[in-house]
Amino acid sequence: MRISTFFSAFFIILMLSPATVPLKFYYQTANLSTTWTTNYSDYQPMLLSGNKLATFTCGFRCGADGTSCLFSIFIFPNYVTYGRSEVVWSANRGYLVRGDAILNFTAAGDLMLKDGDGSIVWATNTAGKAVAGMNLTDSGNLVLFDDQNLVVWQSFDDPTDSLLPGQKLYQGQKLKSSVSLSNSSGREGMFSIGITDIGLFAYVESNPPQAFYRMLVYPNGNDTHKGRRYVRFLNGSLSLFIRSSEPSDPDVSIYIPTASSVQYIKLMSDGHLKVFEYQSGGWIEVADLLNVGNCSYPLTCGRNSICLAGQQQCSCAGREHFRPVNDRQPNLGCSEITPLRCNSTQDQDLNTVENVKYFTSTADMEGVNMETCKQACRKKCSCKAAFYQYYSHVSSGDCFLLSEIFTMKTVDPLYYNASAFIKVQYVTSHHVSHQVARLVGSTVGSFVLLLVVAIGVMYVVYKRKGDTEMEEGYLDQLPGMPNRFSYEELKTATENFSKKLGQGGFGSVFEGTLVDGMKIAVKCLEGFAQVKKSFLAEVQSIGSIHHVNLIRLRGFCTLKSQWFLVYDFMSNGSLDRWIYHGNREHVLEWESRKKIIIDIAKGLAYLHEECRQKIIHLDIKPQNILLDDNFNAKVSDFGLSKLINKSQTEVMTSIKGTPGYIAPECWSSIITEKADVYSFGIVLLEILCGRKIFDRSQSEESWHLLFVFQKCWEEGTLLDLADRDSEDMQVHKTEVVEMMKVAAWCLQTNYKRRPSMSSVVKVLEGGMHVETNLDYDFTNLRIQEPTVGDQKDFTLLPSSILSGPR
Ligand SMILES: *[C@@H]1O[C@H](CO)[C@@H](O)[C@H](O)[C@H]1NC(C)=O
Ligand SMILES: *[C@@H]1O[C@H](CO)[C@@H](O)[C@H](O)[C@H]1NC(C)=O
Ligand SMILES: *[C@@H]1O[C@H](CO)[C@@H](O)[C@H](O)[C@H]1NC(C)=O
Ligand SMILES: *[C@@H]1O[C@H](CO)[C@@H](O)[C@H](O)[C@H]1NC(C)=O
Ligand SMILES: *[C@@H]1O[C@H](CO)[C@@H](O)[C@H](O)[C@H]1NC(C)=O
Ligand SMILES: *[C@@H]1O[C@H](CO)[C@@H](O)[C@H](O)[C@H]1NC(C)=O
Ligand SMILES: *[C@@H]1O[C@H](CO)[C@@H](O)[C@H](O)[C@H]1NC(C)=O
Ligand SMILES: *[C@@H]1O[C@H](CO)[C@@H](O)[C@H](O)[C@H]1NC(C)=O
Ligand SMILES: *[C@@H]1O[C@H](CO)[C@@H](O)[C@H](O)[C@H]1NC(C)=O
Ligand SMILES: *[C@@H]1O[C@H](CO)[C@@H](O)[C@H](O)[C@H]1NC(C)=O
Repeated sequence: MRISTFFSAFFIILMLSPATVPLKFYYQTANLSTTWTTNYSDYQPMLLSGNKLATFTCGFRCGADGTSCLFSIFIFPNYVTYGRSEVVWSANRGYLVRGDAILNFTAAGDLMLKDGDGSIVWATNTAGKAVAGMNLTDSGNLVLFDDQNLVVWQSFDDPTDSLLPGQKLYQGQKLKSSVSLSNSSGREGMFSIGITDIGLFAYVESNPPQAFYRMLVYPNGNDTHKGRRYVRFLNGSLSLFIRSSEPSDPDVSIYIPTASSVQYIKLMSDGHLKVFEYQSGGWIEVADLLNVGNCSYPLTCGRNSICLAGQQQCSCAGREHFRPVNDRQPNLGCSEITPLRCNSTQDQDLNTVENVKYFTSTADMEGVNMETCKQACRKKCSCKAAFYQYYSHVSSGDCFLLSEIFTMKTVDPLYYNASAFIKVQYVTSHHVSHQVARLVGSTVGSFVLLLVVAIGVMYVVYKRKGDTEMEEGYLDQLPGMPNRFSYEELKTATENFSKKLGQGGFGSVFEGTLVDGMKIAVKCLEGFAQVKKSFLAEVQSIGSIHHVNLIRLRGFCTLKSQWFLVYDFMSNGSLDRWIYHGNREHVLEWESRKKIIIDIAKGLAYLHEECRQKIIHLDIKPQNILLDDNFNAKVSDFGLSKLINKSQTEVMTSIKGTPGYIAPECWSSIITEKADVYSFGIVLLEILCGRKIFDRSQSEESWHLLFVFQKCWEEGTLLDLADRDSEDMQVHKTEVVEMMKVAAWCLQTNYKRRPSMSSVVKVLEGGMHVETNLDYDFTNLRIQEPTVGDQKDFTLLPSSILSGPR
């Protein structure tokens, strides 16, 4: 006999206070014609169930005054910790009921919540559907079942903001955040998350909703999933079942630390999807699942504002037209100074903000030019901003039209050609004169204000100076620091910063020549604290190391909020200019490519293994590989790099880097030098195939190179992948395929199976073989085998708890 059938009721001790220890008898099920009241008391369990790990109850929880109650399901680890229970579902979200409310499970089979004044606040509307009883299942699902024991209604079909272990969230269902943590009403907030035909999406409420997160399951044209699509919370993962069917093989999973105790997932009021676990007496956050970077959350900086990527500094989208909602809290966003009026479009204009991007990724128009994009926004009354982003040609880009502007984020112009055009309203002449009058009237007030401002500015300037001095002093103390140049020296060398080589890392790069004739590239970083961070990262990581395959940092210069880095000049620019078919200046031969690949590998091996401190680059991609006159490759751009003690293997950090080159485990914040090995694998594959990792000019199923690679491997057609533009590559096809195996090794989903860079060098130089038995499933990012969370077996309570203190 199964223990569960026998054990349909529990004895539990409610430790209300040490003095009174009432022994109560609770059921897992309830019969028709039962009513419950809150009776003005806090926390009244009605039903109770549980498995080995988690215990669930449903009942009322009221405010301290015994009123403002919610009918909810609660989770907690075991019977003695019920005081720490958390709400995982509520019937009357947003509609708190009075202390004299009644929950009535009627004879007809309806479950309804009646407020003290008699009004029906919530009901399952299941009267007449042969409901026979109610059951709070072991996995925390409140079920109304009929006489056949079939489910008529269940709380899992109407989730609120939480997901329980084992629970499935089907297509059409959504988790919706609550308005705020402090608001006990549980009223729905701005965020939701749910599954579609092609993946998991998180949205911010707007008309239409805007997606700020998506995890796509790439279509393979073979949809074998007969049932509905869903995402499921399992021990160790949040898994998507879209094209594959149950149970063993999710299409893709988001890694979650395996549960050592009870866990639940909650969509927070700020849009984060967090996993909580009960540990040593309290609930702690163990994972933040949508690892998109703070600036990609729509409300990180509120509305109409710009988030400085990496640093989470907020500013308004133009001070002229927007003002902060609260000057002291820039993250609350900004409001329009003059609201947009559709009946006076002649007084509207589009304000350009360069190098910003919006979090949405589904374009309203594709392949259009910038002017068409702007025009579309001008013409559409509801359009508040247009975002335009193009790839290789300014005449063909993606256009996004927004009816509501949340937080946008700054992007590095080296990697994005992206701008925003924000619609603003000018006041008509009538309004202007009015304002002038007001201005004059308040001149005296303004004078006092000015004085205050002036004092403030002086204070800030004074303080800044102190900061800079401290910073500079710090730099000089670093061992093995490169030269410090004066600003004048650099100005002269670059002929007043006239020869721009390109945009890079939050600033521009200029060509220059030192007095001794040495050609240099000067990178000018401009901006806030996070730019400084990137500057310091760069100086610290490569300032004191020299290797033929690493860019040489000649020196630096600091001037107020500007930072300059001086490098050797690389006449052949970055690798991306040479490898992608369609836009390369010259097709590289096999030997040159091989040399470049070995150079990069050696540079990385040096960083990882030979330096005093291990350096993880974290942004390996063709744009960051520079080529000198003789096509010697040098790894550059250390703005994201991490210094790590040799003994340390993993470090938690926030995810940065460039999509396509980021190793899968980084999404779960595991950063090791193997992340660089993965990025190297991608670059290697790009060099061999002569195409970009994402290539939108290809047919949809081929636009991700990894899919093509995997398919060719499965079909045994890897030879076809070698760069077709190059006869020389075709001649060396078999060697190319051999090297693809190195790439496959570097691209192992499990980072522990990837080789070290020194092994890669050995293989490339012929001193070692590629490991056999490689996993060629590059696109299934499942990190570990899922295990089902809702275990059926019961554990009887320890007798010590049953008998309890007396
Ligand atoms: C429900 O009804 C059945 C049969 O009438 C009875 O045995 C059982 O004790 C009742 N359960 C509760 C919780 O009242
Ligand atoms: C409600 O509380 C009152 C006073 O504490 C008590 O007399 C009454 O029996 C309670 N009613 C229920 C349904 O528990
Ligand atoms: C529960 O609902 C039924 C049907 O609507 C009603 O007859 C009954 O009086 C209600 N019970 C309470 C305690 O309100
Ligand atoms: C209630 O649900 C549990 C599973 O969680 C099941 O074992 C039990 O049989 C159910 N009880 C009824 C009366 O349906
Ligand atoms: C919760 O939010 C609602 C709606 O925004 C508001 O009316 C209510 O006062 C809030 N309650 C608390 C306790 O903040
Ligand atoms: C589709 O999937 C089935 C079962 O997994 C497989 O037998 C079949 O070959 C697949 N077809 C294609 C075109 O991939
Ligand atoms: C989750 O999986 C881990 C490892 O597989 C295991 O140790 C742990 O007990 C599991 N937790 C639950 C809640 O099943
Ligand atoms: C993101 O925001 C959280 C909470 O505000 C903060 O703790 C964390 O450091 C931020 N991460 C980054 C990369 O700024
Ligand atoms: C435009 O509409 C606003 C209300 O939306 C109204 O107050 C205003 O007078 C209108 N202006 C003109 C010029 O029609
Ligand atoms: C930006 O545009 C230029 C041409 O205007 C192009 O060469 C470059 O590749 C583009 N950059 C990106 C990251 O798409």
